[in-house]
Amino acid sequence: MKVTYYGHSAFQIEIEAEGAGPKTLLFDPFLTGNKHAEEAGISPDGLTPDVVLLTHAHGDHWGDTPAILKRTGALLVSQYEVVEYAKREHGHEKGHPMNTGGTWSFDWGRVTNTYARHSSSFPDGTYGGLSSGFLLEVEGKTVYNSGDTCAFAEMAWIGEDNEIDLAFLPIGDDFTMGIREAVRCVEMLRPKLVVPVHYNTFPYVMADPEDFARRVADAGFEARVLGAGETLEV
Ligand code: NI
Ligand code: MN
Repeated sequence: MKVTYYGHSAFQIEIEAEGAGPKTLLFDPFLTGNKHAEEAGISPDGLTPDVVLLTHAHGDHWGDTPAILKRTGALLVSQYEVVEYAKREHGHEKGHPMNTGGTWSFDWGRVTNTYARHSSSFPDGTYGGLSSGFLLEVEGKTVYNSGDTCAFAEMAWIGEDNEIDLAFLPIGDDFTMGIREAVRCVEMLRPKLVVPVHYNTFPYVMADPEDFARRVADAGFEARVLGAGETLEV
């Protein structure tokens, strides 16, 4: 699979799904106003996802979702409240609602909506349901995107029950956990590779990703710091 990072918590995974062909999965597409994406010249108009997976409704995740859904007709996979909002406010009918702990098998892979300890509301103040993360089983690989959260003890179960090839964890602090807690999550999840997200986008979330990478290495794991537009083959 090919992973492309767009800065903050936005990234894309391109897979070749057995039986379903090539699929592009886009997570938390906040690009307009995301300085990493803007500095790298990444425009939401250039993205053509088949599926948009949204961890929660906050503006720095919801971002360009309405425009991307409208242009591409992509399937929206998210919390029930988020899928209903997209239907009601933007006329987007193609949604798959989930709630915390639920798993669904799509023809391109399995998605589990995982617990995240965080709030969720849309930029207009509408309640967005519980915040979430995603555990993906696609192309024979397991990817965990924690979404915005602090560390929580049950994360150890996710690590025990799954062989995680790639994990995405926020490190920016203030709105999510910071570096110290994120390293603790790595120790619970035991992923083959971890990519830090949700940092250095605005003043509340300043963090040094290289410091995170060093501490992850000290703990016996591997982190990869990606710049906006950078890709990774897993
Ligand atoms: Ni948030
Ligand atoms: Mn956020």
